[in-house]
Amino acid sequence: MRLVLYTGKGGVGKTTTAAATGVRAAELGRRTLLVSADSAHSLGDVLDRRLGSEPQRVTECLDAVEVDARAELVRKWGAAREFLVELFTHQGMDAVVAEELALLPGAEEIMTLLAVEEYARSGEYDFTVVDCAPTDATLRLVTLPDVANRALKILLPLMGALAGVAVPVARAVVSFPLPEGDVFREADRLLLRGMRDLGSRLTGPETSVRMVVTPERMVVEESRRAHTELSLFEIGCDAVVLNRLLPEQASGEAFFKDWYRVQTERRREVEELFAPLPVLSAPLQRDEVTGIDALRAHGRALFSKVDPDALLCEADRIRYERCGAEVEAVVPLPGAESDKLDVVKVEDELTITCGLRRRSIVLPRRVAALDVSSAKLHDGFLRVRFESATPAEGAMSAKRAK
Ligand SMILES: Nc1ncnc2c1ncn2[C@@H]1O[C@H](COP(=O)(O)OP(=O)(O)O)[C@@H](O)[C@H]1O
Ligand SMILES: [Mg+2]
Repeated sequence: MRLVLYTGKGGVGKTTTAAATGVRAAELGRRTLLVSADSAHSLGDVLDRRLGSEPQRVTECLDAVEVDARAELVRKWGAAREFLVELFTHQGMDAVVAEELALLPGAEEIMTLLAVEEYARSGEYDFTVVDCAPTDATLRLVTLPDVANRALKILLPLMGALAGVAVPVARAVVSFPLPEGDVFREADRLLLRGMRDLGSRLTGPETSVRMVVTPERMVVEESRRAHTELSLFEIGCDAVVLNRLLPEQASGEAFFKDWYRVQTERRREVEELFAPLPVLSAPLQRDEVTGIDALRAHGRALFSKVDPDALLCEADRIRYERCGAEVEAVVPLPGAESDKLDVVKVEDELTITCGLRRRSIVLPRRVAALDVSSAKLHDGFLRVRFESATPAEGAMSAKRAK
C-alpha cells in the first residue's frame, strides 16, 4: 500500500493539500484513506464532514478518519499504563501528573502510527494519505519507531523479567507495587512487533513524506531541515508542494507585480534547495479550500502532470562502498551543514548527530570491525571512511565531519 505523509510549518496548507490529494486519488479510482494525525484535527472542517475515530465514507473511493491517539493508547497500552500510574502515585506523585507521565513521551504518536499500520494491513486501501502535525511533531512521529525500537529492546525484557521471575522475590524487597506477570508480556508483544512493522513501513519503498511550503524563506528553511533529518532516518521524501502561488495574470497587475516576481524567484530557490525532489505548484485560491468540490479542483491543479499516488522521486538510502582496503558508508544528508554534524563510532554502531537529531546505525559486521578514519560531507552525502582497526586504538573512535 502506498503511504504519503504531508508535513510542513503550521498554516502552510498541509491539511488542505492532504485532503486535495485524497479527493483527487479517489477520483482516479484509488481506494484511498485520509488520516488526520494532527491532534488539532481540522480534516473534518476541510472536508466539511464530521469525522470520527473509525474510517468513514466521504466519496465513492474515499474514507477519512481522525485518529484518537489517547483512546488508542488506553486500549493498547492500558495495563502497563495503569501499573505506571500506580507506581508514580505510590512514589508520592500527584495523581494528575502521574497520569500524564504514564502516557510516556511519544506514546501518542506511536499510537497514531500503529493505527495507520493497522489500516495499511487491512488490505482495504491502495493509498493512505496522512495529514501530520507541524514539522517538529512529524519528525518526532516518524523517527520514533527507530528510537523506540532500540529503547524497547532493552527495556521490555528487563521489565518482563522483573514481572515474571523476579516479582515474587522483588515483592519482598522493594516498597513499590510491582506489575502482574502478563502486563508487560502483552505490551511487549504488541509494541515490539508493532514497532518493527512500523519501522520497516516508514523506511520502505512505498512510503514518502511530502513537504508543504509557501514561498517564504522561514517556511522553506524549516522544511529543508526536515528533509535533512528525514534522510538521516532513511525516510524517503518524494516531492515538495509549493502552495499559494499567485496566478500568472498577477504579473500584469501593478499591485501584484513585485509579489509575483519574488514568488517566481523563490520557486527557483526551492527547486535548487530540494533538488532532485520535484516541486509541485498549488495556486492561491480565491477563497478557503473547503468542501469536496473545491478540494477536487485544487487536487486537479496540483496533480495536473503526475498522479497523486505516484512515487515522484526515488530516495537515497545508506549504502556501503569498498575503496581498496577501506570501506565507505555513504549517508544521504541533503542540505546538512558540516558544523552541525557529529559522527562517532562506538563498538558496532555509528552514531550520527545532525542538529538536534541523532541516529545510531548498526553497522554490518565486516564494517563494525573497522575504525573510522575520516568523515566528510560532500554534495549532500556524508562519507564515513573505515580502515582496519589498529591495536593501539580501542573499540571507540570519534571523528568530527570536516
Ligand atoms: N492554495 C490555497 N489557496 C487559498 N487558501 C488556502 C490554500 N491553501 C490553504 N489555504 C487556507 O489556509 C488555511 C490553512 O490551511 P491548512 O491546510 O489548514 O494549513 P495547515 O494544515 O498546514 O495548518 C485554511 O483556511 C485553508 O483553507
Ligand atoms: Mg492542519
